[in-house]
Amino acid sequence: MGFANGVRIVVFACHWCAYSAADLAGTRRLEYPESVRIVRVMCSGMVHPKLVMETFALGADGVLVMGCRLGECHYKEGNIRAEARRTVIQEMMEAMGVEPERFDMVWCASSEAETFVEACRAMAKTVETLGVRR
Ligand code: FES
Repeated sequence: MGFANGVRIVVFACHWCAYSAADLAGTRRLEYPESVRIVRVMCSGMVHPKLVMETFALGADGVLVMGCRLGECHYKEGNIRAEARRTVIQEMMEAMGVEPERFDMVWCASSEAETFVEACRAMAKTVETLGVRR
């Protein structure tokens, strides 16, 4: 899989909101960085810290977990469980020698294509500042 400028940003996007927002961004022809690769998951709560660590171990420069707004998860508390893992994930990243800024969680509605695009752009900017990991 090719990446723009060798940068790799992986977005785990929940099917119900974030992935729909990404789809809408495409329909509206909103531009987001070419370095973004989207992995659709049914719920952000499915993204275990181990999966995030494996994604970094495989060479990702940035990882985003995006899902429904807090309180609006289609599986009730999936995104609340995901949010509760944020600190643990960032601590694991530090232990692994990866800057915690390379990870973020963003919550949006399916209609919020701009939120999706902005989150991708912000992570691309962070990666640009910190540099690629190879
Ligand atoms: Fe979207 Fe749970 S279904 S975060």
